[in-house]
Amino acid sequence: MDSRLIRIPLGPLESNMYLITGSSGVYIIDPSVSPERAEDYTKISGLSKGEASVKALFLTHGHHDHIKYISDWVKAYPSVQVFFSGNDSELLPNGFMNCSYMEGSEVLYSFKFTDLAGTDGQTVYKDDGIEIKSYETPGHTMGSLCFLADLGSDKMMFTGDTVFSGSVGRTDMPGGSSKLMMESVKKISKFDPDLKIYPGHGPGSTIGDEIKFNPFF
Ligand SMILES: [Fe+2]
Repeated sequence: MDSRLIRIPLGPLESNMYLITGSSGVYIIDPSVSPERAEDYTKISGLSKGEASVKALFLTHGHHDHIKYISDWVKAYPSVQVFFSGNDSELLPNGFMNCSYMEGSEVLYSFKFTDLAGTDGQTVYKDDGIEIKSYETPGHTMGSLCFLADLGSDKMMFTGDTVFSGSVGRTDMPGGSSKLMMESVKKISKFDPDLKIYPGHGPGSTIGDEIKFNPFF
């Protein structure tokens, strides 16, 4: 299958936006970069003009630095499906809770989404050559999700701000819980040690390397 993963680590907090370019379309995890900047970076022609068959957006959680350009993407791709946990919905209309105040101006979000609360371990998206499962991993926020993408020949997990290479996300922000974070880490540690993980900040890793080197595992 023709699939490629592109990581765009731009933005003031270097939040990672990921694009999976598969045979059936383009899939985005965390729209933290504008369509124009993403097109510049990836060289995917027509990406910012709604011409690149972007089919679905997966949001790992409701923090501003990860969802900043959701409206621009939905505007460019009006029929795109948005997947998000309703357990983070109270963050959206609240500049303190979604942490936009940290970047100097409070941003309130309102968008339509398919609510993934309660879908732990279920397949939430399937298209030719791609299947996405959602895992509920509260701790950084109540609605934090990890997405397992199965591309046939390749599997990868997007861990948002739950697990980083060598660390885990903060638990001291609204909705955070260190107890739930530890339970989520335990859940993630049960996956195949060879499974590649792609966090919301910083470089990728594998479950096996995190078990070896991450003090929270
Ligand atoms: Fe976050």
